[in-house]
Amino acid sequence: MSENLETRPVILTGDRPTGPLHLGHYAGSLKNRVALQHTHKQYLLLADCQALTDNAGDPEKVRRNVLEVALDYLAAGIDPEATTIAVQSALPALAELGQLYLNFVSVARLERNPTIKAEIRQRGFGRELPAGFLCYPVAQAADITGFKANVVPVGEDQIPMIEQTVEIVRRVNRQSGRALLPEPEALVPPVGRLPGIDGAAKMSKSTGNAIPLSASQEDIRQAVRRMYTDPGHLRASDPGKVEGNVVFTYLDAFSDDAEGVAELKVRYRRGGLGDMKVKGHLEEILQRLVWPIRQRRAEFAKDPGEVVSILRAGTEKAREITEATMEEVRSALGLFRWA
Ligand code: TRP
Repeated sequence: MSENLETRPVILTGDRPTGPLHLGHYAGSLKNRVALQHTHKQYLLLADCQALTDNAGDPEKVRRNVLEVALDYLAAGIDPEATTIAVQSALPALAELGQLYLNFVSVARLERNPTIKAEIRQRGFGRELPAGFLCYPVAQAADITGFKANVVPVGEDQIPMIEQTVEIVRRVNRQSGRALLPEPEALVPPVGRLPGIDGAAKMSKSTGNAIPLSASQEDIRQAVRRMYTDPGHLRASDPGKVEGNVVFTYLDAFSDDAEGVAELKVRYRRGGLGDMKVKGHLEEILQRLVWPIRQRRAEFAKDPGEVVSILRAGTEKAREITEATMEEVRSALGLFRWA
């Protein structure tokens, strides 16, 4: 436990509630959030408005997943006594901040964001690109600054969003003549983005290449069995490749024993270590990781009313904080004063 709550650095991060969280979310950010919640002041945002930027036609999916992702948080070990969980759409001050920030950002700058560029290409929007989608990094800057966050635990694909936030923060601070908003820092884990079990760079529900945090024992067993290794490694005695081998990438991400993994890599490269053996080891690690998560999820899922109360209390608290920031920004930017 850290000293005074008020002097702790502030964490804000969030997720789009479009589906259950998976091991990629865990390795990329959730693990850091669980670890830091007692030394930081932490807020988690269920970013349902941001989810709508590419799901406007399916709000029901987003609505349903707000509770699912909240359950995933609690299951993963987020402690609602330590972490404030809030629903984005119930925080209008964030929308207002985002609206003001849009005037500080050019279309050219929005189009240069490499993550947005890649996502636009993947989704094949063409000229039908929703304006809200192009602008979501600005809305995300509102999320981060609305809580005056210092630290943002995210996967590496989100680094450009934090960079854009810093630019906006500098612009607001320059215009207000003081350090009104802190410059946030991205907290990115040492392992890169976790690939899908088929080796694809991106996990997605539609291709079934992700392992959900709520996966059953059997799901995990099957997923590891199907995991992409080295297609040239036909017999256990053959030398095998570790690069691009998903089993080793997952071992790097989830094993606590880096030396042991390094040793396995040497043996695999040399030949004499079969895929079945390494997969068995990985499966054991994943089963041990997911077991308590699955248990806690089942407990919380018994009482959805309790989860809603947690969200209500968290959102209430978040509303006060974001409204206070909004008031400060509004007056710092010199808008009309009623007093
Ligand atoms: N864009 C983030 C993602 O897709 C989710 C998100 C919304 C977020 N608001 C945020 C992340 C604020 C960090 C801070 O994962």
